Amino acid sequence: MPIAHVHSYGCQQNVSDGEKIKGMLALMGYGFSDSNAEADLVIYNTCAVRENAEDRVFGNVGALKHNKRRRKGMLIGLCGCMMQQEHIVQRLKKSFPYVDLIFGTHVVHRLPELLYQALSTKERVFETPDSDGVIAEHLPIRRDGTLKAWVPIMYGCNNFCTYCIVPYVRGRERSRTSQEILHEVSGLVSQGYKEITLLGQNVNSYGKGLEEEINFAGLLRKINGIEGDFRIRFMTSHPKDATPELIDTMAECEKVCHHLHLPVQSGSDRILTAMNRHYQREDYLKLVDYARSRIPDLALTSDIIVGFPGETREDFLKTMDLIQTVGYDSLFTFIYSKRVGTKAAVMDDPTPSEDKTKWLMELLEVQKKIGEDKLKEYVGKTLRILVDGPGKSGEDYVTGRTEQNFIVDLKGPADLIGNFVDVRITKALNWALLGELL
Ligand code: 5AD
Ligand code: SF4
Repeated sequence: MPIAHVHSYGCQQNVSDGEKIKGMLALMGYGFSDSNAEADLVIYNTCAVRENAEDRVFGNVGALKHNKRRRKGMLIGLCGCMMQQEHIVQRLKKSFPYVDLIFGTHVVHRLPELLYQALSTKERVFETPDSDGVIAEHLPIRRDGTLKAWVPIMYGCNNFCTYCIVPYVRGRERSRTSQEILHEVSGLVSQGYKEITLLGQNVNSYGKGLEEEINFAGLLRKINGIEGDFRIRFMTSHPKDATPELIDTMAECEKVCHHLHLPVQSGSDRILTAMNRHYQREDYLKLVDYARSRIPDLALTSDIIVGFPGETREDFLKTMDLIQTVGYDSLFTFIYSKRVGTKAAVMDDPTPSEDKTKWLMELLEVQKKIGEDKLKEYVGKTLRILVDGPGKSGEDYVTGRTEQNFIVDLKGPADLIGNFVDVRITKALNWALLGELL
């Protein structure tokens, strides 16, 4: 059996594509290895969202040169968001002659044909067309887990936030039909999956362009109606499209987790406008207030970009103020990274990168304290967790997640793994909670 090593960089959407790639390869007769050392086929499913992600890919592809020398007939394939950028493909063509197969985000479903072409002609294959709007349904999927599953509900993005490469590399927004999604989720639940995460760049614009009359709230209600003991997560919500109807639906659907990932990006109105985000700080804070009034135990998380072109210390301090006002449970923070082809890439960016790094450190320090205080609020409470693996606190511990997505370690037998259990929280560590089984 030939062995494949498939690695996905970046977001869950990419991980989900990687599971389809593995599904197709399995049907083609490939076995799998976590290491690239013994692989006959290495596929790197790349991410283009920030420069450091791209640098890592180039570094790792560079290292594969030795594998290829050692292993005759080995093939190297690259796919994912980086491959939708012309300058990247040109660089790979010229400087990485040992890469055999390059395919883009819109032709993942054609992997068997493209791989056959590479194997039979022994010539390099490049296939990176722009979006044709196709959604390939019914591809085989080889999922990474047996408890938690990713289910894309839509692809692409229409928002063109000025810093972001996603709309250029993943094309226009298109939704799967609710029938396909419900069919997939029902199947997963009957196979024993306990947590379904619905994926899309902007799940709140789900349904636009479909023949059926449906929006994201409607989809959530339908999925919530599927029988079984499972929970539902989703990401990502764009604040401009997150409506009171969505919040009400979250409050009313018992399977939907009380966690909202609502990327704010900046606390400065001037910067939000320059980012083309279509909301202002006050709109965002109003939405947060409404969400908390309807769902008091809601966990809120966000993405923040520090150092957008033209951002001043004053703008940054508004972001600092916003994170303190909201009190996020956790944050994903990024220093702005220039992406060729985006509008922000040609904006003036006078702030030195050392200042941006310093600002980010300041923000992380403040958030660390906020996050720790949030965790402390849970001590003494009883929470339901999905036990998902061995714990970190000792040999006889297991670990799981609350619906707010906090990690809880507790003493208990390994056969709890895969079950929902009620836990009383006894202590807050700085990275997780400790609890005891009720
Ligand atoms: N630079 C820094 N961060 C970015 N993100 C997207 N594009 C960039 C960029 N050019 C961040 C945003 C987004 C998250 C997935 O990645 O915060 O929400
Ligand atoms: Fe990028 Fe904005 Fe689309 Fe998110 S909503 S993928 S940040 S363009």
